[in-house]
Amino acid sequence: MNFELKPLDLIGAADEKTDLLVVLVPKDFKGGKDDLSTLIGSALKSGDLEAAAGKCLALYRPLQAAAVRVVLAQVADGGARATRSAVLAAVAAGKSPALKKLVVCFAAPAQEDAVRAAVTAVADATYSYTATKSKPQARTLQKATIGARNAPELASTFERTVAIVAGVELAKEWANRPANHATPQHLGEAAQALAQHAKISCEVLGPKEVAKLGMGSFMAVAQGSEQPLRFIVLRYSGAPKSKAPTVLVGKGITFDSGGISIKPAGEMDEMKFDMSGAASVLGTFKTLSLLKPAMNVVGLIPACENLINGRAVKPGDVVTSMSGQTIEILNTDAEGRLVLCDALTYAERFKPRAVVDIATLTGACVVALGAVRSGMFAANDGLAASLSAAGDRSQDLCWRLPLDEEYAEGLKSNFADVANIGGRAGGAITAAKFLQRFTEKFPWAHLDIAGSAWKSGAAKGATGRPVGLLVEFLLAQAAEK
Ligand code: BES
Ligand code: MN
Ligand code: ZN
Repeated sequence: MNFELKPLDLIGAADEKTDLLVVLVPKDFKGGKDDLSTLIGSALKSGDLEAAAGKCLALYRPLQAAAVRVVLAQVADGGARATRSAVLAAVAAGKSPALKKLVVCFAAPAQEDAVRAAVTAVADATYSYTATKSKPQARTLQKATIGARNAPELASTFERTVAIVAGVELAKEWANRPANHATPQHLGEAAQALAQHAKISCEVLGPKEVAKLGMGSFMAVAQGSEQPLRFIVLRYSGAPKSKAPTVLVGKGITFDSGGISIKPAGEMDEMKFDMSGAASVLGTFKTLSLLKPAMNVVGLIPACENLINGRAVKPGDVVTSMSGQTIEILNTDAEGRLVLCDALTYAERFKPRAVVDIATLTGACVVALGAVRSGMFAANDGLAASLSAAGDRSQDLCWRLPLDEEYAEGLKSNFADVANIGGRAGGAITAAKFLQRFTEKFPWAHLDIAGSAWKSGAAKGATGRPVGLLVEFLLAQAAEK
């Protein structure tokens, strides 16, 4: 979709010839003497436009505006959260098959985070998945204009957000695709497509190369499937080679059946989203290609299926990871950490300034934090603070969880250096403790996105998170020296 930022006051907004005009009205609205201001004033006074954020009043061909549909939407304090709920509600209220052009206008000068929220909400409200529909309902919306009186001072936030939205959409697209349309090979091709951009290069390793590297843990997960694994190495080079890169590692389990420790049948289809971490790395690279920050970033994606054939790994099997540590696989469903640990060891060769892995890693994280915040783990306080702040800026929130050594107790094994599961208690943390064993050589953080990366129920689908958080984090790093 085409986004545009335009200097608009309410007089200008009233003249916009558009299919839908959304006017974002703050609770302390003070309009001028123009017709649209007067209309808003009386809607507020009568109580027809209620005071709570997200409340809407939908109008059809009102005389006060050139637009076909006008939705007045309450943004209360004008903050990011209120703006998001107002835009989502207004676009739902004004939705029509004929919607080609949309204008969202701030009735009062807009705050930066509100503009960001408005662009993100328009994109979320109008995204539609089509890849595997025989009669795709093409997205009719072609142009979304964000109008604000203070547009010039909002331009850089606006451009950044439009680039993030493109990355979020790519992440959604890949995460949503069913496992037979998003195999490890397909993910490799998606990464290679990103390398069309001058600053991005890509290398895709197959089973032979991965065996040569000694990634015995990753290979153990992949061996239960007919789909050959892929190890994807993406590089964004926006700074001289001498500059240490930040490495992103995305869990790329294209389908997680649980393996021999098989999952229950109900909702197992949702395990096609188990490559959402990988999808967020692809999305982040898409955004990097648009924003071109002066920094270096490496993206690593271990991609395979967790399935069950005659060669599948069995509970009790001991494998040797690339780090040399042996792992007793007590539960084949704790496979994410098994593919990530080898990717983390691989990351050492880049002498990274920081490594962040992103994974739909544990059901326990969903229990702990639900879908609102991603779980965040970091031994390094500075890195934790940067990630938290990036989450706040992008409204792609995370919450730090602990890494006390006591949590590693349950990972002890009688037959290997470490087991791949602890007890049930604190499951998101024991998973992180397992990963931490492979991160001694660099500052490291882990994002558990099992709850935040996708929605179940009627609105089943990927959210494209945490692309927003990752991009903000990287841009802040680029701004540092
Ligand atoms: N991909 C799952 C985690 C998951 C669960 C993501 C629910 C989204 C929703 C992961 O591979 C897994 O199966 N984890 C197990 C670990 C357990 C066996 C220690 C879990 O969380 O049940
Ligand atoms: Mn699993
Ligand atoms: Zn999994």
